[in-house]
Amino acid sequence: MTRIAVIGDLHGFWDERDTDYFNDADYEQILFLGDLPRLAGGEEVAREISQLRRPALLIPGNHDGSTVLQLYAEMCHRERAARRLSRGQEERVRALEVALGPVLLAGYSLHDCGEFSIIAARPHSMGGDRLYFADYLDRQFGIDSLAASAERLRNLVDRAAEQVLFLAHNGPSGLGDEPDSIWGCDFDPARGDFGDHDLRQAIDYAWRTGRRVRAVLAGHMHHRVSGGYRPWCRFEGETLHLNAARVPRVKHAEEGKLRHHLRLEIYGNETRATEIWVGDDLNEIPGSTATGACEGAAAEW
Ligand SMILES: [Fe+2]
Ligand SMILES: [Fe+2]
Repeated sequence: MTRIAVIGDLHGFWDERDTDYFNDADYEQILFLGDLPRLAGGEEVAREISQLRRPALLIPGNHDGSTVLQLYAEMCHRERAARRLSRGQEERVRALEVALGPVLLAGYSLHDCGEFSIIAARPHSMGGDRLYFADYLDRQFGIDSLAASAERLRNLVDRAAEQVLFLAHNGPSGLGDEPDSIWGCDFDPARGDFGDHDLRQAIDYAWRTGRRVRAVLAGHMHHRVSGGYRPWCRFEGETLHLNAARVPRVKHAEEGKLRHHLRLEIYGNETRATEIWVGDDLNEIPGSTATGACEGAAAEW
């Protein structure tokens, strides 16, 4: 069985208890979905998670390696300002990478995890049908459009093993256009489905070319929406989509402070994900579970 920890947008919520817990846990891989800082930058949190002694990957989000002004310009589609403010992003992301220590910075990259390939999608995604941070992506990766991004991801699929996991900051399009859909747009309902189109194309391409996409792991669209929470999991055929962006990822209960992550377990044809809350004493309190198997599965747990 492969067990993977999936940790959604931190936004500043990480402490030494998290480090202790994950260093003792028996996960093959720890996946961070980006958005380390409360607002922008992220080096301070990166230094904290650099204490991990387990294989770990981070796909940067829109808050990682950016500045507050830059984020504002991107959100408001102020293209000239965004271009000017993107200067220095290479250095900021490089500083983040150094601060992360053994935690690898992922993005347009392929990583081995046992029998699975992890395909890290477009870094710094902000969702929707727009290539945010376009100038930086062009300079750093030669990506100047969502079409070019989809092409880059298809190239990674071509080099991947038969069984694939996608790691992304924002999830794919095609999973609902309501504000409370798993990657629906709640801050502007007119925008509907706010998933990434390039990621969607890569997932569909992977299936068409004979890969099994076992899971898609992403965050960005925070769980809390007006009037409640969006779902954190959804099966699409055999593929389990997980949105791990529980923000804030801590809550206070009778037991004290509880810290959130998702546990992904893959065994044969079975895929299961469980919400886990970790207390100050490092004990786990399991939350809800998603489980499923493709037809003909004969898995045992
Ligand atoms: Fe976030
Ligand atoms: Fe984000």
